[in-house]
Amino acid sequence: MEIERRERGPRPETARVFFALWPDKEVRRALERPARDCARLLGGRAMRPDTLHLTLAFIGDVAVDRLPALQDAAAAVAGASFSFTLDRLGFWAHNRIVWAGSRQPAAGLAQLAGALGECLRQAGWPGEAKAGQDFAPHVTLVRKVGEQRPQLPPLPPLAWHCRRFVLVRSRLSAAGADYETLAQWPLA
Ligand code: 2AM
Repeated sequence: MEIERRERGPRPETARVFFALWPDKEVRRALERPARDCARLLGGRAMRPDTLHLTLAFIGDVAVDRLPALQDAAAAVAGASFSFTLDRLGFWAHNRIVWAGSRQPAAGLAQLAGALGECLRQAGWPGEAKAGQDFAPHVTLVRKVGEQRPQLPPLPPLAWHCRRFVLVRSRLSAAGADYETLAQWPLA
């Protein structure tokens, strides 16, 4: 085992990354209260406002020296800016999160996720083949929700104007995830 490892050399450094929409200050502020209220009512850990985001495509662990290729793939996305409305809360039992989302499917959002998924596929990131298909847009507000069948309060409608998307590195710790924006691309 030891010999094998020496022959293969040290493991390359990896980064856990994903593409996302990052809300501006107004949207973050407007989501802070429902996140805190839900965590208090239902048990769980509210996401810090600066960590709130909507994932477009989760990539996972990538060798750091492959990050430029990933960024090149994203640069090929011809995305248009768009707006959509967050107007509902939801709960998923499988990962015990409460999230904010939209009642109406947002066409601009689906288009962007689809275009990103296509560019990633074409550039040979097959793990992302599902990015445009199984896309379930949501902003996680609370993790580790205690209630089994939570009664969710209403969410006052909140407009989100999306003018860019980002590539983010996530570092996990006992205190939750820390996020670092590695690159961003404007939406025309
Ligand atoms: P979540 O909020 O529903 O957990 C960073 O982990 C981001 O990537 C989160 O927004 C997370 O969604 C999302 N994500 C999507 N697919 C994931 C996966 N397979 N593993 C971990 N996070 C994933």
